[in-house]
Amino acid sequence: MAHGRITGWATHLPEKRLTNHDLAELVDTTDEWIRERSGISARHVGGKVSEMSTVAGRDALAMAGVDPGDVGLLLLATCSSEQQFPASASIVQHNLGLKCGAIDINAACSGFVYGLVTAMQFAAGGVDTILLIGSDALSGLVDWTDRSTCVLFGDGAGAVVIQRSADSPTMLGWDLMSDGSAAGILSCEHGGKIFMNGKEVFRRAVLAMESTARNAMETAGVVMEDIALVVPHQANIRIIDAAMKRLAIPREKAAMVLERTGNTSAASIPLALVDALDNNRVAPGDLVLMVGFGAGMSSAAAVIRWDPPSS
Ligand code: ACO
Repeated sequence: MAHGRITGWATHLPEKRLTNHDLAELVDTTDEWIRERSGISARHVGGKVSEMSTVAGRDALAMAGVDPGDVGLLLLATCSSEQQFPASASIVQHNLGLKCGAIDINAACSGFVYGLVTAMQFAAGGVDTILLIGSDALSGLVDWTDRSTCVLFGDGAGAVVIQRSADSPTMLGWDLMSDGSAAGILSCEHGGKIFMNGKEVFRRAVLAMESTARNAMETAGVVMEDIALVVPHQANIRIIDAAMKRLAIPREKAAMVLERTGNTSAASIPLALVDALDNNRVAPGDLVLMVGFGAGMSSAAAVIRWDPPSS
């Protein structure tokens, strides 16, 4: 039985950076309020999904040493494409010179984990090389006069290359969940701006993260103590803290980029994962738990055994 393993990774953030102090010039807020309530100090804005994805995807392929012509499938997790159609994946496919199927996956902030689980199934099913990108540009969907939402979101992209391998599996367990009864608490109509019932999202997010993480770990047959690194969706430091507490996993085990990126939706988990890799926080054989939640309400978790390419 073949499996997929991650062999390349990269991220991209748009150049324009907006600090909390910059935001205080736009709406009635303060740096202190934003940091206390969310843990965010700055975010990057002005990105476009197809452009950010192209840069991150190209760099991830280069790192993996993969020729674009050898990619067998492109999966792009996003909920903020500039256009209704075609899929942003089609644009990125052309930009990168890929010759393969290309689809967008919309599971909001859970999108990258949904994509990862999907990619691993395709790898097991016979696709040799898959490019998975999580990318969102929520700065284009935010009402910049609404202080309760505009301070939270930012833009970015993260990409991984997944290659088929005959070695032992790297994805040990996963869980995908959706609760459409809560779709109305966080949404964005076509041509509209983000609507969010922050308190309700907060309450449900903590429960969903705990539940999906537990399900993935149970399927993997592992316990909290086995996990070396948790890569949580970077929405709010208080949500992450509350979920980690319920899971009885020390906060120090969490990968964190939120402070400088804000909530980048489908890009948040790969941004945090790559940051942890760059800072040597993951060793071969370590178990990594990725856990996301988002509009839908969607939630998703995966337990990965880190099996990097030998250098
Ligand atoms: N600056 C100053 N004051 C503010 C701001 C701001 N930026 N935003 C809201 N306030 C005010 C409110 O108006 C309110 O004032 P009032 O008491 O006079 O009415 C007060 O602060 C408290 O507001 P709350 O909404 O009660 O603040 P809360 O502690 O709940 O924090 C927050 C708000 C940060 C939005 C929190 O609810 C949260 O993080 N929720 C989850 C959001 C989230 O994770 N969303 C992303 C989901 S993932 C995805 O799919 C995109």
